[in-house]
Amino acid sequence: MSELATIVLAAGKGTRMKSNRHKVLHPIGGRPMLLHLMDAAASLSASRTVVVVGEYREQLHDALGESVDYAVQEPQLGTGHAVAQAKEALRGFTGDVLILYGDVPLVRADTMRAMRERLHGPDTPAVVVLGFRPPETRAYGRIIAADDGRIEKMVEHRDASEEERACTLCNSGVMAVRGDELFALLDRVGNDNSQGEYYLTDIVNLANGDGRTCAVVETDRPGEVAGVNSRAELASAEAQWQAFRRQEAMEQGTTMPAPETVFFSWDTKLGRDVTIEPNVVFGPGVVLHDNVTVRAFSHLEGAVLHEGAVAGPYARLRPGAVMEEGAKVGNFVEMKAAVLGKGAKASHLTYLGDAEVGEGANIGAGTITCNYDGYFKHRTTIGPRAFIGSNSALIAPLTIGADAIVAAGSAVSRDVGDGELRMVRGEQLVKPGWADRFHDAMKKKKKAQAKDG
Ligand code: UD1
Ligand code: CA
Repeated sequence: MSELATIVLAAGKGTRMKSNRHKVLHPIGGRPMLLHLMDAAASLSASRTVVVVGEYREQLHDALGESVDYAVQEPQLGTGHAVAQAKEALRGFTGDVLILYGDVPLVRADTMRAMRERLHGPDTPAVVVLGFRPPETRAYGRIIAADDGRIEKMVEHRDASEEERACTLCNSGVMAVRGDELFALLDRVGNDNSQGEYYLTDIVNLANGDGRTCAVVETDRPGEVAGVNSRAELASAEAQWQAFRRQEAMEQGTTMPAPETVFFSWDTKLGRDVTIEPNVVFGPGVVLHDNVTVRAFSHLEGAVLHEGAVAGPYARLRPGAVMEEGAKVGNFVEMKAAVLGKGAKASHLTYLGDAEVGEGANIGAGTITCNYDGYFKHRTTIGPRAFIGSNSALIAPLTIGADAIVAAGSAVSRDVGDGELRMVRGEQLVKPGWADRFHDAMKKKKKAQAKDG
């Protein structure tokens, strides 16, 4: 196949977002929406990318760096005018050009591929347009097409007749065009329309007039062309992305009894036979290996769970949390920059921060690593098979040896050797019968008072 270039329109900063951040940099699944689009395009191995920028362009430059070319569009006179700004950057380019909108970020690589394939069909269309049938056609431009997908006319909602408005096939904005024809067509686009704008869609009408074929490729997943113009649409796009990601996770072997309550990050990695119970939220950087179970109401970010590990319900795994094979954390356990060794357990109410726990160790309920003195963080190292009794405070820096036992309720501030018992508690006072005598005396006193009163 021929070479590919992409042009990404991002000149509008997105006034309706009411934001100091460029619209296309707002995140979906924790990643700027523009980068979702760039990822999909990158999987088609585009040799060049031109991003058309306007206001807030320094923000786009910060996000994309030198990996792309920039074309400045000022003022913004319409989508056709926007694409025309890429002319210099693509001078001499004769491959395929894919035109994308930065604020239509969920277009899949497979869809982009299908459009390119259509562009190289036997009837060699000049332009291929990605169409969709939304539940409401609203103000979308319409694609008037024959049954075989050949486009007869492109018309903007505002310029359309009643009959044209009744057409349900809408323009997503995404197009594939031959590089050696695109700019010549754009040169001929005028602005004699209801908005006084240079419409990109007019290149289809011009090519048709030249006797060329233009074709529509219709997506069967209208959600992939959802545009983002407001915070509400951002939330819809997020929901759409999450729905796609959950579907993909299940197709790849993840069990989720209530997928609609699980929220992924763009980079969540899932092995086979992973189970994710309801109401689980993933921040960035989570890797779940095979046979991991994340139980209900857990929050994970920057955590790696190896084969067969079980976390939750109500687990909080923060960056640097590593659970080795078969390790378990139960309810209300928090880990940060901590490794829980093979088969080791922290079943209830525990904080493990800046810690390393050896294989097979058992961390009792309510154990806290006291890792911070108000100025510095300190490490706790717990040896293999050590047993930490409930409600222990492990005051770092601290090393506890292999097979050691820390008695419940201990506040340990000095290292514990291998095989040692450490108990740090007050002496116990034992007074048989004391409570009985106390109750008798107090009851008598109360009765006497009641009589006097
Ligand atoms: C455009 C299409 C319409 C389609 C709709 C899909 C045209 C004439 N109309 O309409 O058929 O149904 O998208 O959402 O193409 N942009 C620039 N510079 C400009 C104008 C726009 O960079 O001068 C960028 C915007 O930032 C945005 C995209 O192009 O990313 C689309 O612009 P928008 O104004 O939303 O297009 P519509 O008029 O809605
Ligand atoms: Ca729009």
